[in-house]
Amino acid sequence: MKQRLSRLVQLCLATSTWLILVTCSNLTPTPSPWPEQFHALLYMNTSSAHLQLSDVWYDWPKGRNVNIFQKQLGELLYDVEWNNGTSFYYTLGEGGHCQVMAFEVGIPRPDFLDGANYLGTEVIDGFLCNVWEKVDFIWYYEDVQTKRPVRWDFYDGITSHVMTFEVGAVLPDSVTQAPAYCFNQNRNAAAA
Ligand SMILES: *[C@@H]1O[C@H](CO)[C@@H](O)[C@H](O)[C@H]1NC(C)=O
Ligand SMILES: *[C@@H]1O[C@H](CO)[C@@H](O)[C@H](O)[C@H]1NC(C)=O
Repeated sequence: MKQRLSRLVQLCLATSTWLILVTCSNLTPTPSPWPEQFHALLYMNTSSAHLQLSDVWYDWPKGRNVNIFQKQLGELLYDVEWNNGTSFYYTLGEGGHCQVMAFEVGIPRPDFLDGANYLGTEVIDGFLCNVWEKVDFIWYYEDVQTKRPVRWDFYDGITSHVMTFEVGAVLPDSVTQAPAYCFNQNRNAAAA
C-alpha cells in the first residue's frame, strides 16, 4: 500500500497539469460525516469481553445522543447524553437507579472524524472498508461501496459492530425523559 502510494505521489509530482493535481488531491478518502439523525443497532464487545447490544439514537439538531444498552442476560441501561455535557445513566422499573454525570464535552459532532488519519482498506466483519484512526482514540471502518459505518474500535478495547444503520430515524422525546429519581442527588463530575 505504502509503495503504491509513493509511486502515485511520484507520478503526481512528475506531471504538473491541473487535472492531475486535482486527481491526486482526491487520492485520500475522507470519512463520511455522520447523518444529523440516525438510529443504529450496535453489537459491542467491551474491554472485559462482555457482550451487549446498543440501540443508538443520534440526534444532532436536538443535541442528544441516546444509547440503550442491553447487557447479555443483564440489565437494560439507558444512557442519555446531552450536548451541554450532562449525561443520565439509569435503569427503569423496580430497583431502578440513576447516575448523573457532567462531562466537559458534549456529544460528537457529525464531523468528529475530520482530520482522521487514513490507514487504507481492510476487510473487516466481512466488508471491504476504508479505515481511519483519530488521535489514537478511535479506529473507524466505513464500507467502501455504501459509505456506511461498519465498525469502530476504541483504544480501550471496546469494539462496536454496526448491525443496522437507519438514516433519519428519530427517537420520540418521551423516551429520553430521565426518571424522577435522577433529579434529587449530587452530581458526579467526570473526567471527559
Ligand atoms: C470479544 O473480545 C475478546 C477480546 O478481544 C475476544 O477474545 C472475544 O472472542 C470476543 N468475543 C466475541 C463474541 O466477539
Ligand atoms: C442539559 O440538558 C438537559 C436536557 O435538557 C437537562 O436536563 C440538564 O439539566 C442540562 N444540564 C445543564 C448543566 O444545564
